[in-house]
Amino acid sequence: MSEIEKIKSEYIEKLNNCTNPDNLNQIKTELFGKNGAITNQFKFIGSKSENDKKKFASQINDLKNLLQEKLDQVSKKIEIDEINKKLETEQVDVTLPERTFRKGKIHPVSQVIDEICSIFSEVGFSVAEGPDVENEYNNFTALNTPPNHPARDMHDTFYLSDDKNLLLRTHTSPVQIRTMLKGKPPFKIIAPGRTYRCDSDQTHTPMFHQLEGLHIDKDINMGHLKGCLNYFIKEFFEVKKLKMRFRPSHFPFTEPSVEVDIGYDLKDGEIVIGEGNKWLEILGCGMVHPNVLINSKVDPSKYQGFAFGIGIDRLAMLKYGIKDLRSFFECNYKWLNHYGFDPIDVPTNYRGLSR
Ligand code: PHE
Repeated sequence: MSEIEKIKSEYIEKLNNCTNPDNLNQIKTELFGKNGAITNQFKFIGSKSENDKKKFASQINDLKNLLQEKLDQVSKKIEIDEINKKLETEQVDVTLPERTFRKGKIHPVSQVIDEICSIFSEVGFSVAEGPDVENEYNNFTALNTPPNHPARDMHDTFYLSDDKNLLLRTHTSPVQIRTMLKGKPPFKIIAPGRTYRCDSDQTHTPMFHQLEGLHIDKDINMGHLKGCLNYFIKEFFEVKKLKMRFRPSHFPFTEPSVEVDIGYDLKDGEIVIGEGNKWLEILGCGMVHPNVLINSKVDPSKYQGFAFGIGIDRLAMLKYGIKDLRSFFECNYKWLNHYGFDPIDVPTNYRGLSR
């Protein structure tokens, strides 16, 4: 038997018996590798006489093609066998529950926003919204804070364009302007949302949340403001008694302006709202400045009213005993699992807010 015949019968048999990819690779190298049987045969062509050369070369070529074809067939068969084996052994029961089942939680800030909306909706406020990216006019100028006003510096603004026209809103107050320009008085809205200031430490994060309130009608006065806030804070902290004081302050967009403190006490390291003789500042408010009304196409000789702005994250920390503001935004699953709320536990005034 010639060498070619030998190679042919030996490898056809090897390929017929081959059932796994490792073995197939081995055979491939034995045949076509650097020192492979076929490769070596090609090297002999040169040593053949002129007469034999052609015949010999075509014989090797035929053998090479034959074995290559056979190899491809076996490779396909192995592939299909492997798939069939997998299908038989790796059955999936799609009706089984997930093994590591994690239930999602509502973030305390989202929960508090829902609570706030529920409380204010009870007394006739509707919810308004505005964009995070604001223009300089709505965020400052329309709010009686013209260019070069010192209050602009205090806001540590993130500007988004070189001409300082676009910015990330530094407070929710521009929603006052948007709401009044869009509609006709009276207005009675709250606007919760994200706000941004270039500031970061234990009690400041570059992004935080505020709640804006605006009530404009023919005869709204500071008494209404005080009553409204008193109602809100009592409902929110779920207390019957509340000590609250107005402390004179200044905002360009309100006149007069006040900051509101509530009384609290420390019991075993916990803050108890409503009693004691310590004071905690929780919001800024006042009567909307006539210039703001004019800028918003509202006639100040006919309409007046109050506005307030509250830090939502601060409220959430106080109510749920969370110590570091930054933890709100760290996306820590364990933290959220501990401080978060059941998604079905939607707060309403009737059922109770946080029970
Ligand atoms: N916008 C003010 C701030 O961010 C809060 C405020 C709102 C004060 C409305 C008065 C009236 O500090």
